[in-house]
Order: sequence, then C-alpha cells, then structure tokens
Amino acid sequence: MLEVNSHIATLDRDAIVTLLTTAPAEDLYRQADRVRHDAIGDEVHLRGLIEFSNFCRNDCMYCGIRRSNRHVQRYRMTDEELVETARRAVALGFQTIVLQSGEDLHFDQARLCRIIEQIKRHDVALTLSVGERDYTDYKAFRDAGADRYLLRIETTDTDLYHRLNPGMSWQRRHECLLMIRELGYELGSGIMVGQPGQTIASIADDLLYLKDIGIDMAGIGPFIPHPDTPLAAESGGTLELALRTMAVMRLLMPDINIPATTAMESLHPQGRIMALQAGANVVMPNVTEGEYRRLYELYPGKICVNDTPAHCRSCIGLKIQSIGRTIGQGRGGHRKSTI
Ligand code: SAM
Ligand code: FES
Repeated sequence: MLEVNSHIATLDRDAIVTLLTTAPAEDLYRQADRVRHDAIGDEVHLRGLIEFSNFCRNDCMYCGIRRSNRHVQRYRMTDEELVETARRAVALGFQTIVLQSGEDLHFDQARLCRIIEQIKRHDVALTLSVGERDYTDYKAFRDAGADRYLLRIETTDTDLYHRLNPGMSWQRRHECLLMIRELGYELGSGIMVGQPGQTIASIADDLLYLKDIGIDMAGIGPFIPHPDTPLAAESGGTLELALRTMAVMRLLMPDINIPATTAMESLHPQGRIMALQAGANVVMPNVTEGEYRRLYELYPGKICVNDTPAHCRSCIGLKIQSIGRTIGQGRGGHRKSTI
C-alpha cells in the first residue's frame, strides 16, 4: 500500500492508477475514511433531491431519459408542485434542496428564477443540477438565490465524451464549469465510472482535473446500463472501482463534500454505507413524491422508487447512526480545512 498520508497533495497519475487497481482496497478505504475524519469530522450532510422533470434535449448514450428513448413516460412537475415538494422536504428537516432534471428548457430562466426565489424563502441552501445553460441563465439563477451547482464532467477523455454524448461538446461543458465557479456558486462536478472504453489512466486524469478546477463537491458513481439505451449490452461499472475512485478523490481533496451516490446503493444494498466508510460525507435522499420517482429512471434498479420522502429520511438517518456517524447540523457547505 502506498503511504499516501504524508504527501496527499503530490499523488501523481501513476500513484493514482496504482490506488485504483492493485492497492489493497480495504487499506485505501480506511485511509480515505481517516482523511475525511481528520479534515471535516464525522457529520453526514443530507440533501433533499427533487427530480422535477425527465424531459431532456440531449441524447447521452448511457442515460435512461435520453431524448431518443421512446419508452419513457415523460413528466414535469408544475411550479406549484415543485415548490410544495421543497416545502415538505424542509419540513422533514432538510437544509439543502437539490433540484435536478434533464435539460428541459420549459424551465426557462424566468420560471426557474421564480421557483428558486420561492424555495429560498424557506431559508435553505439550494443546489441546481439542470445541465448546460447560458452564462445569463447561470447568473440569473445565482442572483435569484441558488447557492450550488452540480454538473458532472463525466470524463476528461474527450474522444470518449464525444462518442457517448452525441451533439455535445466537452469544451463547452468545461466552460460551463468555469462560468459556474466564476459566478460564486459552490461547484459540484464528477464522473461516471465504468463507461465503455474508459481507461483507468483516464479516470486518474479525471481526478486530477477535478482537483485542478477546484471543485467543492464530487459526485462519483458507477455507470449502470439501461435496457432502453444503445449501451444496454455493456457491462457497466463495478462498485469497487467506483468506491476506489471516490476514495482517491478524498485523498486528493480532503475537505470537499463527497456524496455516497444512489447508483452505488443500486449495485449493493449497503452501497451508500460502504461509501460513507470510504471517504464520503454526504447523502442525497430522494424527496420526489409518488409516481415521478419511478419515471426518473436514469438506470435500472434505482433504489427507493416505492418509498415516501419521510421513509427515506428516517431510513438513511438510522443507517448513518448505525455506523457511529451523526447527521450534519446546518447547511453543510464546503468547509475548507487547513490540513
Ligand atoms: N441534466 C443534468 C446534467 O446533465 O447534469 C442532470 C441530470 S443527469 C441525468 C445526472 C447524472 O446522471 C449524469 O451526470 C450522469 O453521470 C448520471 N447518469 C446518467 N445515466 C446514468 C447511468 N446509466 N448510470 C449511472 N449514472 C447515470
Ligand atoms: Fe439528458 Fe440524461 S440525456 S439527463
């Protein structure tokens, strides 16, 4: 096992490749857990995730709600439903609300700003995850009160990106991340691990890229093939590689927020707990209500589709306590440490 503690900041590409492949996994997870504990403590921050529309103008080859998937029953919440769902999440104790959707321009600048302003009246942190938009949109959302933005770069292998995201531009996505950062949002990005054709070396590059652009939050999850997409027959990412990648991210950036992703739990019933013990410090329970949960199907086997927000909140609370961790008080923004 590489002794990484003393020179975390200098982990280079080769060292990262070793950690992602041959280093003993349990040692890596333990080190990431310790780095997390020393840098930001034992609190686990909860974010209430609202999946408010599954319409999307994009056609990402891996994604269950891609534009070309004719099997999807499309939905979008009304503005009132969306604000009411957020209000209920706040009543359940969530202090951050995450609004996620496909790239759905029905939610134009004015509409989304109105929604942001109404949710912000509840005195919560608000995260947007609505894809690529213009600078003027990002600025307007920020001015309306949005605090954080999640946009995964997915991969830094530009050939792979262009193969799997037809009609999209990697450079454009990168520029979106720079705009978001410049506007003063807390910046969330991340990658999907196990994409067909993705190499371990390119995952190492991805991690160095995320460190380099100075993200505040890293979402790292396994690719899970969806049957109604062109990648249906691919093998997908493993939980182990996703956990290793996440753990190395923690070593590289000790104080950022790292969620235990839902996709990890979709591969293993204890996936999120395993992630929390390998460097993660955030969980994003789904607070979307009713039928919409099932219809926002990015990949098969999505967890909790028949549960209620209240059930998910209490279930994850018990799991977190069972491993000796506490639920975070406050909004749980990126708290830069001095180590
Ligand atoms: N439209 C927004 C965007 O592009 O950022 C947010 C929604 S998008 C569906 C959220 C994330 O889901 C993507 O960044 C991608 O990494 C992940 N995702 C999509 N399809 C997936 C799959 N088959 N398996 C695992 N994750 C997937
Ligand atoms: Fe747009 Fe997946 S293709 S959200």
